[in-house]
Amino acid sequence: MASDSATDKATLPFTEQHYFSSYDHFGIHEEMLKDTTRTLSYRSAMYKNKDLFKDKIVLDVGCGTGILSMFAAKAGAKHVYSVDMSNIIEKAKEIVSLNGFEDKITLIQGKLEDITLPVDTVDIIVSEWMGYFLLYESMLDTVLYARDKYLVEGGLILPDKCNMYIAGIEDGQYKGEKIHFWEDVYGFDYSPFIDVAMAEPLVDTVENNSLITTPYKFFEFDINTVTKEQLAFHSKFELEAIDNDLCHAYIVYWDAIFPGKETVTLPTGPMNNYTHWKQTVFYMDHVLDLKKGDKIQGSIASRPNSHNPRELDIEIEWNLETTSKDKSRDKTGKYNYFMR
Ligand SMILES: C[S@@+](CC[C@H](N)C(=O)[O-])C[C@H]1O[C@@H](n2cnc3c(N)ncnc32)[C@H](O)[C@@H]1O
Repeated sequence: MASDSATDKATLPFTEQHYFSSYDHFGIHEEMLKDTTRTLSYRSAMYKNKDLFKDKIVLDVGCGTGILSMFAAKAGAKHVYSVDMSNIIEKAKEIVSLNGFEDKITLIQGKLEDITLPVDTVDIIVSEWMGYFLLYESMLDTVLYARDKYLVEGGLILPDKCNMYIAGIEDGQYKGEKIHFWEDVYGFDYSPFIDVAMAEPLVDTVENNSLITTPYKFFEFDINTVTKEQLAFHSKFELEAIDNDLCHAYIVYWDAIFPGKETVTLPTGPMNNYTHWKQTVFYMDHVLDLKKGDKIQGSIASRPNSHNPRELDIEIEWNLETTSKDKSRDKTGKYNYFMR
């Protein structure tokens, strides 16, 4: 088992030091490992498609505690190279050795972009890079870097396809607790907090019965071919009210799909099992009074923040066209959100 620390954390910008330090503590890994929807999706994608792994060289980008590397080794990989910048890799070394994979898994501490692998190419890349709103943390950039530098022609990436969805929800009670709360705090006007509370999307579990519109797939990409630039997008959407109700917010969720004859999908919608990614909630300053069949047409744009590319600037714009003659229900809106 070789080890090579190529990146001194102290030489990284403060935001990067902070990012990698957050993965030093076992607690964050415990949360990810206990997310059974997440972890079992990776395991199924590998164990159900062992033919893909037989005698292959695998790269685990951001291996954390080494769980995906051990799945890959058990699925039949010839050798796994596992890279992580965080100090958690010290525990991964102990775990890999304790479980008898010393000869199959090589752990390398360093930032993937700064190290050189002991091999020129790999057949398969596995990585769990997904963040809130799928793209928050921008770790996908690292996977694309690994793809372009190491993946053989026709090699595989797990997962390799992603879809993002938007829908409208009724969320009056929670909006009251999170937004209207600031209007009267022990008798004082705290409304200067309303703008910041509105601009920051909330990561929370949304009940499936809160959905009051059809969902719309507004962005999809293939990790085999997507470029970093294409991950800054501006997409249109159209939602249709499925009931008569008030709409307070949009939610965004996503799914990731793994390659192989036995297709495995990791979904994160409110209609699916819980994951630690939950859903991302974007409150509106209006309340939309929807009647069944009303249409909301809009667009959603997302791009990395210019100061810290791991953060996102998101804009949602919409136009509600009601089915009735009551034009007072028609609404347009535009809001800028920041994921910091
Ligand atoms: C979401 S965790 C996944 C951990 C593990 N693969 C799992 O599934 O439990 C992502 C890991 O990638 C590491 N990471 C992120 N960007 C990296 C980079 N550029 N180079 C090396 N490691 C990186 C982080 O330190 C973190 O441990």
